[in-house]
Amino acid sequence: MKLVSIIGARPQFVKAAPVSRVWRQAHTEILVHTGQHYDEEMSAVFFRELNIPEPDYNLEVGSGPHGRQTGQMLARIEEVLLKEQPDWVLVYGDTNSTLAGALAAVKLHIPVAHVEAGLRSFNRTMPEEHNRVLTDHCADLLFCPTQTAVDWLAQEGVTQGVHLVGDVMYDAILYNVDLARQRSTILTELDLHAQNFLLATIHRPYNTDDPKRLQNILTAFLEIGSPIIFPVHPRTRRYIAALDTDFDHSNIKMIAPVSYLDMLALEQHARLILTDSGGVQKEAYFLAVPCATLRPETEWVETVQAGWNLLVDADLEQIVNAANNHQWPSQSPQPVFGDGRAAEKITDKLRNEN
Ligand code: UD1
Ligand code: UDP
Repeated sequence: MKLVSIIGARPQFVKAAPVSRVWRQAHTEILVHTGQHYDEEMSAVFFRELNIPEPDYNLEVGSGPHGRQTGQMLARIEEVLLKEQPDWVLVYGDTNSTLAGALAAVKLHIPVAHVEAGLRSFNRTMPEEHNRVLTDHCADLLFCPTQTAVDWLAQEGVTQGVHLVGDVMYDAILYNVDLARQRSTILTELDLHAQNFLLATIHRPYNTDDPKRLQNILTAFLEIGSPIIFPVHPRTRRYIAALDTDFDHSNIKMIAPVSYLDMLALEQHARLILTDSGGVQKEAYFLAVPCATLRPETEWVETVQAGWNLLVDADLEQIVNAANNHQWPSQSPQPVFGDGRAAEKITDKLRNEN
């Protein structure tokens, strides 16, 4: 059975690794990298560390306005699908690469499977929200990470082909967490010790592209006072440079984006994670590290309900309070993201539903 998997952005490399590993034990996979992310530290490093096979096609679409980027992907994916004639197209998450892959497939009447289906922020200013809704509504198989996602799909009338399989990022972390302990040297390189630093990431357009929100977040980071390790997404670096604030010699240590194993090492040992990333919120929960989410809402509501994730938006006072005063739960988080075998369940369904 032949599967074409479409990936293109950093979190999709992490999500695809476990599925690809299991699927390839018995079946053929053609891997398509759209080229949405292309810097060494945003792409190649993940393929090496996670042992993801070389893509069969790199569409080299690169950065650009949403319409052009998505349109170029659509046209180039269509060519690949016409040539490969797969049994399934598999897409992950909610990026422009996800939507382009799903659209290209349905227009050729090739069945589509969506991993991380049913997620909703109910915030229509996020490009991801449109990508998710549109992808879910044209997918034939919808692999949900949580019961909440299943319920949200049902509210939209989507019940056919919906399967609760757990979260592939949980599979990924279980597989890699010990490797991170063994192989990552980042704590030594940065002279960090467990619990003596915070970890931050920011890349949502509504935080990066709005100078007021970005400034608020960074001012809060300064006020927190403790060391904050901040691997900076390329989008964010550009906007910080335009802010006219000098963060050198402050408690904020800006570094280049780090590899997945380095990220896991940093996450495991941080006192608190400050982030607007979807994946990083979940990893904080998996690792039982408190998380303050720099957004007004989240798709991962279970983490908030459990008390391990606090929504602090871009509010200076709330961010500082989360870091310096908030009482975090004393009990370990409950497992709500499956049993670490999502990739096997996805493979089984793909095999049996065709
Ligand atoms: C994309 C996804 C987002 C996901 C994020 C993961 C969409 C609409 N957004 O956001 O859902 O959470 O990836 O990180 O699909 N750039 C580089 N080098 C790279 C990649 C990007 O310099 O390798 C810079 C470019 O200036 C580019 C900007 O980052 O314009 C944004 O990249 P893009 O892929 O459009 O969106 P992300 O913000 O990365
Ligand atoms: N990540 C990484 N290095 C970094 C920042 C993030 O390896 O410098 C990993 C992170 O551990 C998670 C994934 O990238 O597995 C999340 O991607 P990102 O935050 O870019 O996107 P989102 O999850 O918000 O879509």
